[in-house]
Amino acid sequence: MASTAHDVLTAQFIAEVRRDLALSPKQLQSKYLYDPLGSSLFDAICRLPWYRITRSELRLLSRHAREIVDALGRSGSLDGDGTIVELGCGSGEKLVILAEALQDRGASAHVHLIDISSQALEQTEQRLTRLHFSVVGHQSTYEDGLRTDAAARDRRGRVLVLLLGSNIGNFDPPAAAAFLSRIRAMLAPGDLLLLGADLVKPVDRLLAAYDDPLGVTAAFNMNLLVRINQELGGNFDLARFRHRAIWNAPAGRIEMHLVSGVRQQVRVAAADLDVRFDAGEHIWTESSYKYDPDQLLAMGRQAGFPSSRQWIDPDARFALTLFTA
Ligand code: AVJ
Repeated sequence: MASTAHDVLTAQFIAEVRRDLALSPKQLQSKYLYDPLGSSLFDAICRLPWYRITRSELRLLSRHAREIVDALGRSGSLDGDGTIVELGCGSGEKLVILAEALQDRGASAHVHLIDISSQALEQTEQRLTRLHFSVVGHQSTYEDGLRTDAAARDRRGRVLVLLLGSNIGNFDPPAAAAFLSRIRAMLAPGDLLLLGADLVKPVDRLLAAYDDPLGVTAAFNMNLLVRINQELGGNFDLARFRHRAIWNAPAGRIEMHLVSGVRQQVRVAAADLDVRFDAGEHIWTESSYKYDPDQLLAMGRQAGFPSSRQWIDPDARFALTLFTA
């Protein structure tokens, strides 16, 4: 029987849960936060007053959409269609802003979406199809999505890669640099990378964004255990875990953890795994690295993008950087 994208992702989920819960400290990969419930909770996070990344980025995108889409044309103006590849498309709102700016210029683009979340792909495909854009969705990790090299095989005009929402923040800095180099390797001179990245800001504001008073981020994090219970036959007792967010200043990152309140043992049947927790022991579920504007520019330059333009929202402390290969 042919294995579907879903089967492959489930097999990988089982293997990584088994591997990562055996590490010290215990870990779970943040990409697994985005099942349909997790994706909905993330959409809710994006509307929280304390989480400003999404609104700030939407504002910067609207303000600079025309410059961005014009860069897709050669010699300063659009001459035919380009290709857009979005890594981690979320609900597609941001892509719609660029799609509308393209349409205002009488142009269009062929769009490739790479996202681990089937819900995100469906929502984005619907939104763009309504605007009469041709869209191909790939349900996969960024790494596998780039490996299939969809855009390079099916490129028309210039290519614009979108890595928005501070998704880059989930990589540690060496991995982020390597990832930008991999993106660069699939591009030709003149192609573009639009990178949205959250900036370092006062700790109280960072913590409020990742441990909000409504408990939505806590639910988003805890849902990883719900997901393991449902999909992998786990028996995590949610009442015995709690969400914690910390700012790791030396590393420059927010960390999310799930902390075990008691000494306990948990079984994950599909992984044939029994995991022991001490009281206070935690599972590290996500890192969100925060950058300075110059660090972003340097990282792009080192990855092989010789020129860039950067727009900063000084209130939310968020940066949108357009790199040219
Ligand atoms: C989607 C990875 C950019 O790190 O800010 C939101 C995910 N985690 N609240 C981020 C997230 C907790 C988000 N990224």
